[in-house]
Amino acid sequence: MTVLITGGAGFIGSHCCVTFLEAGHDIVVLDNLSNANSVSLNRVSAITGRKVAFEAADIRDQARLEAVLDQYGCSAVVHFAGLKAVGESTKDPLAYYDNNVVGTQRLLSAMAKCGVRQMIFSSSATVYGEPKYLPLTEDHPTSAVNPYGRTKLMIEDMLRDIAASDPSWRFGILRYFNPVGAHDSGLIGENPLGIPNNLMPFITQVADGRRAELSVFGKDYETRDGTGIRDYIHVTDLVEGHLRAHEVLASGAAPSNCFAVNLGTGTGYSVLEMVRAFERASNKEIRYSFAPRRDGDVAECFAHTAMAEKLLNWKAERDLDAMCRDTWNWVCKNPRGYETTAA
Ligand code: NAD
Ligand code: WQD
Repeated sequence: MTVLITGGAGFIGSHCCVTFLEAGHDIVVLDNLSNANSVSLNRVSAITGRKVAFEAADIRDQARLEAVLDQYGCSAVVHFAGLKAVGESTKDPLAYYDNNVVGTQRLLSAMAKCGVRQMIFSSSATVYGEPKYLPLTEDHPTSAVNPYGRTKLMIEDMLRDIAASDPSWRFGILRYFNPVGAHDSGLIGENPLGIPNNLMPFITQVADGRRAELSVFGKDYETRDGTGIRDYIHVTDLVEGHLRAHEVLASGAAPSNCFAVNLGTGTGYSVLEMVRAFERASNKEIRYSFAPRRDGDVAECFAHTAMAEKLLNWKAERDLDAMCRDTWNWVCKNPRGYETTAA
């Protein structure tokens, strides 16, 4: 009973490998390394004391997927593989539809062929579009404002259609809010290539001197200090939510064969609150200046967490100080990510 983890060499996937291995599951990682370094998997082995089976492959290669599912006797899939940069998706939408939508369709076809009928899918709070109310409940209307978000919605729809066609499929759609942080060992963490798009990696690069200052996008939102508010969640909490979802699906305890559930803390922090929290954790000054609002950004976004608590018996436990402390620990131990540190 092995779990296939697609995208398992990436930021969230590598943390998921640790949590699943520590819970006693056998795993195989499939990743094309388009946004990852396989050193992350050596680190997973170092943390868990277990070897990680790794297949360097693309989820669009259906024949290869079928071979892997059969070879390892997989019973379930946790599906992280995909492209995730909102800005890039508006410039190259085809790459997003191909990797995310076509890739997931091929993965599902391979699973159907091999008789593997359980998947956890990495969705995103971006599927809620502009919030009509807060906190966001799972039945909030969905809409997408960019190609990346549309790929997530299309995949969600694909899963709902397949689940409705045949009750033997089991899908857990997990809608992440803003994952940050790193494993508390400092051995694995987020390793963005180029200029970071997201707030936390950008802040870390100001703290360690790689960037001069943070641009705070917008200072006149209707929020407590005028800057955007988001629901940041520690990646370790997030992947523990995956383990619970996997267990609920596998035990047949889910109320339906396809559920969508938020993974967030339920608490929002502003950009300036994030800056101050990171200053506390790193003991560094984070220089910033205000810049215009970023296109497509909403003022405020945070999760309603009751469904996750009820369905998964899970709630996030790590606070903002832990998110910042663990991020800083990872960055200090790996100043150039995985590239220049020893495996
Ligand atoms: P990541 O880029 O670190 O991980 C994705 C992994 O998938 C990478 O290792 C990459 O090499 C691999 N990959 C990409 N395309 C592939 C393909 N065609 N075949 C095989 N492997 C492929 O990103 P992450 O932050 O760990 O995100 C994981 C998942 O969670 C993604 O689906 C992302 O859309 C989703 N998500 C992320 C966030 C976030 O803020 N990080 C928020 C919501 C949802
Ligand atoms: C957070 C806040 C910015 C950078 C994105 C995707 C979403 C999901 C998570 C994948 C906002 C502000 C940021 C900077 C800033 N990803 N900010 N200066 O936009 O909530 O979500 O990542 O699924 O789909 O859209 O996260 O970290 O980019 O921004 O002021 O340099 O920080 O305006 O208020 P976001 P983020």
